[in-house]
Order: sequence, then structure tokens, then C-alpha cells
Amino acid sequence: MSFTTLGDYIGSFFNENKKFLAANYPGITLSRLKAELKDFCRILESQFDDIYISENKGVIEEFLKKVRQGTPLEYISNRAFFYRSSFYVNENVLIPRSETEIMVEWTSEYIKKNKLNDISIADIGTGSGAIALSLAGEIGEIEARIVASDISPMALEVARANKFFHRYRYPKTVKIVFEESDLLTNLDEKFDIIISNPPYIKEAADLSEVHGQVHRFEPHLALYLKDEDYDNWFKNFFQQVEEKLNTGGLFIMEGSELHLEHLKDILSEYQFSNLELIKDYTDRYRFLKGIKNG
Ligand SMILES: C[S@@+](CC[C@H](N)C(=O)[O-])C[C@H]1O[C@@H](n2cnc3c(N)ncnc32)[C@H](O)[C@@H]1O
Repeated sequence: MSFTTLGDYIGSFFNENKKFLAANYPGITLSRLKAELKDFCRILESQFDDIYISENKGVIEEFLKKVRQGTPLEYISNRAFFYRSSFYVNENVLIPRSETEIMVEWTSEYIKKNKLNDISIADIGTGSGAIALSLAGEIGEIEARIVASDISPMALEVARANKFFHRYRYPKTVKIVFEESDLLTNLDEKFDIIISNPPYIKEAADLSEVHGQVHRFEPHLALYLKDEDYDNWFKNFFQQVEEKLNTGGLFIMEGSELHLEHLKDILSEYQFSNLELIKDYTDRYRFLKGIKNG
């Protein structure tokens, strides 16, 4: 078979590997694959029919090799879209998910509705910094300090890079700092809001729910907790949140629909009221929030 243009080559690759692509990249289309290849090769859409494969095979094969391995497209392009903008990502951070945007939206509306100002916010397990930086860009020109923390120094490097890329996106009244910390242990201050998308998948019991591509490529530190430690991990987390949250402060976290009801029961053993589960757009309970009592 002779391929001529880049457009033909990628079209044939897509048709010949449809089954593999559908299994590894749910919902993938030829135009999405082309869009990623276009960015990877730094070309324009119109050039698909002008560029001849013979001269450019190296770079295109480098891209296709990663696709054949099932590497998430976001790790190939080092870019993930989250809440109105794009974030730099690599294998050291979770690819931010669209459902997490609901928590950003919910929290920024809470800040605006309650006319909060001069506040401090902690984003625990910040990963790429997607939550902290999106919130920073969404809460308007109020005085705010956002502490974005993670136990992984490599994740924090990614978050810091994203702070630089997003530097014009949030007002000067909003200050963002990064801290390496196991949960809140290194954070020596109190907060008005603690937001978190922590690891929440039970390593053994929930494994069948996890897509193979996620398990193979995304950092296990970001995904899993040991089944036998699960409740204690969250008890420890909730206790630290209770200690570091100001009276009347908001705690909101993302979790698994399989365990969130149970985590709500655990959270009710601490000094919180107005406990509530919040649904995602597919009608599943995916977020837990509570207000710290006096
Ligand atoms: C589910 S990812 C969330 C990443 C990012 N916030 C997002 O929503 O895309 C969980 C993050 O928590 C971090 N993490 C895991 N255990 C932690 C701990 N004990 N203390 C702080 N961060 C932790 C991981 O490194 C990872 O970045």
C-alpha cells in the first residue's frame, strides 16, 4: 500500500486500528486523532493534504508508536483541557477530569453567593494544579490566598509550571503558593475553604471499575488507596480538615459514588454540619461537602 499525504496516512491508520482505538480511547474520532497529531507535529489542519509522509515519517511514527501503546492522548500532547483552559500534564499527574469542574464551579459560586473576601483556600492533592488555578481565575478580584499542596514533589513541579502558564488568568489579589505535604500535616495555617480531589479508588475492590488505560498510565498515588486502610485514611484526613478549617468554613471533596455515602457517615462523626452529597451531570453522587461547626 502506498501512502502519500499525512491525511491519507492517519486516515488509514485510524481505519485499520478502529477496534484497538475504540478499546483504548473510548469515543475517539479521526478528527480528534488528527487534532492531536496536528499539535504534536506543530502543523496546520490545512497541511494534512500537503505534507508528504516520506519526508516526515519519523515524527509521525513517534506519535503513532505512543498511540499503539495506548498512551493517553493528553500525555502524548502534554496537554489537558480543564475548566475553560488547557493545562500542561505529564505522567506524574492525573489527567484532570471534566466532572471535577463541577466542584470548581460549585465552590466559586459559593464564594460569590456568600460574598466572601480575604479568604484562604487549601487544595489538597493538587496534582496538575487544575482545581487551584481554575478557582483562582474564577473567584474574581477578591483578596484570596490559595495553598495548593501535594505529597508528590513531581506533581508539584507540574502545578508550578501551570501557575506560570496561567499567570495572566487570575487577578493580582489572588496569591497561590505550593506546599509539599502529606495531607495537611505541613500546612501551618487555618483555612476558610478546603477543597480536594484525593485518591479514592479501593486498590483491590474497585479495580474492575477502572479503565485499563487509566490503570496502566496514570499515577497510582493519585488513584488508589489500600482497601484495608481506606476508612482510616479518610478518618485521618477528616480530622486534619476539622483542625485546619475555620469555624463556618467549607469542606468539599470529590469521591467515588461507591463510597461517598459511607464517607459522609464518617465525616458526620467530626465537627461538621450541613453534610450533603452533590451529583455530577450523569446524576451520580460524586462530591461531599460540609460546614465546620463552632
Ligand atoms: C485524584 S488526584 C487529583 C489531582 C488534581 N487535584 C485533579 O483534580 O486533577 C489525587 C492527588 O492527590 C495526591 N496525593 C495522594 N496522596 C496524598 C497525600 N497523602 N497527601 C497529599 N496529596 C496526596 C496525588 O499525588 C495526586 O496528585
